[in-house]
Amino acid sequence: MPTNKELGVSTEEGKTGERAGKPLLRACFGETLTVPPIWLMRQAGRYLPEYRALRQEAAGFLELCFTPELAAEATLQPVRRYGFDGAILFSDILVVAHGLGQSVGFRDGEGPVLEPIRSPADIRQLSLAGFRGRVAPVYATVERVAGLLPAATTLIGFAGAPWTVASYMVEGGTSRDFAAVKGWAFSDADGFAELIERLIEATIEYLLGQIAAGAEVVQLFDSWAGVLPEREFRRWVIEPTRRIVAALAAQHPRVPVIGFPRAAGLMYRAYLAETGVAVLGLDPTVPAAIARKTLQPSRTVQGNLDPLLLVAGGVAMETAVAEILAALSHGPFIFNLGHGIVPQTPPEHVAHLVALVRRAHG
Ligand code: CP3
Repeated sequence: MPTNKELGVSTEEGKTGERAGKPLLRACFGETLTVPPIWLMRQAGRYLPEYRALRQEAAGFLELCFTPELAAEATLQPVRRYGFDGAILFSDILVVAHGLGQSVGFRDGEGPVLEPIRSPADIRQLSLAGFRGRVAPVYATVERVAGLLPAATTLIGFAGAPWTVASYMVEGGTSRDFAAVKGWAFSDADGFAELIERLIEATIEYLLGQIAAGAEVVQLFDSWAGVLPEREFRRWVIEPTRRIVAALAAQHPRVPVIGFPRAAGLMYRAYLAETGVAVLGLDPTVPAAIARKTLQPSRTVQGNLDPLLLVAGGVAMETAVAEILAALSHGPFIFNLGHGIVPQTPPEHVAHLVALVRRAHG
């Protein structure tokens, strides 16, 4: 895989001042910025009072995702409040399962509930034919947000990576041990591959649709990448990601992909080397000094404050932020959490975090 340098992208910022362009996009292309761009995974959501009010306007969470005016407003709320460098489309990774025809519901306090896919016959019920029509409102949201964003803010599209989406589709919801999905992948890999195959195709179509609507960078959330042994990590995480990245690059070589293989541990390097992602999202367990030495020389890195440090705030958060900045802000870097923001996060801690990141290097 070419490094950002080989792609003809400068990794040095001009000493004479900021070059033109959106800071988050410039960082994705390998530039080192004096002030690192910042956005937070799951930056829209229940920790914000204005989100909780908006949520009341839709019958349910999926209805919120599929109503462009409301979803666009949810996307913009955290950008308005904090001036983040990135606006991430308000939607959910399970919209793809719904788009394929699976029954998906969100119950308050329970998380997602899906009619589980457990057999080749179940897989055959999933259909790409109706997909485009079902997910079309998401593209309308992207278009709407694109027209409303401040000039310096980058519009981030996203999808779940096939393994993580498959895990919800097979388990029927959130899982503690992933017994059903791992059981299937281990005992009938070729049968399970049919599901991953459909998800690869749907994800490519879905992200191409978001890009056509105005997404400038896309993130692949592989939240459960870290539960797989090496062989399966290569087959169900690296290979599907590589295919999605290649398909997007064939049509949109200038749209960076951020890969987030959460908890990939010692597999982070193989993921970076083999998938072709432009930016690597780090979870909170990746030591910043190791990321600096082994990952950042060839790729932009993003991360990786523990979301519970954002809840804690105060000196604990300040120390962690200073350590991350000291290690990673001298190379191509995007400040983020190492996983999504949690609902109990005090909104004022987010404001303090943004100030810390901007002040330290401002
Ligand atoms: O980042 C953003 O602000 C954009 C919106 C976004 C949501 N989900 C909104 C959401 C994004 C990028 C996601 C990604 C997502 N969804 C992931 C990957 C990231 C991660 O956290 O690992 C996963 C695994 C999901 C699946 C999902 N969606 C779960 C497990 C849950 C229930 C847990 C929870 O947080 O409630 C959801 C629901 C969900 N997705 C909510 C929001 C704002 C809360 C639902 C509500 O408001 O009622």
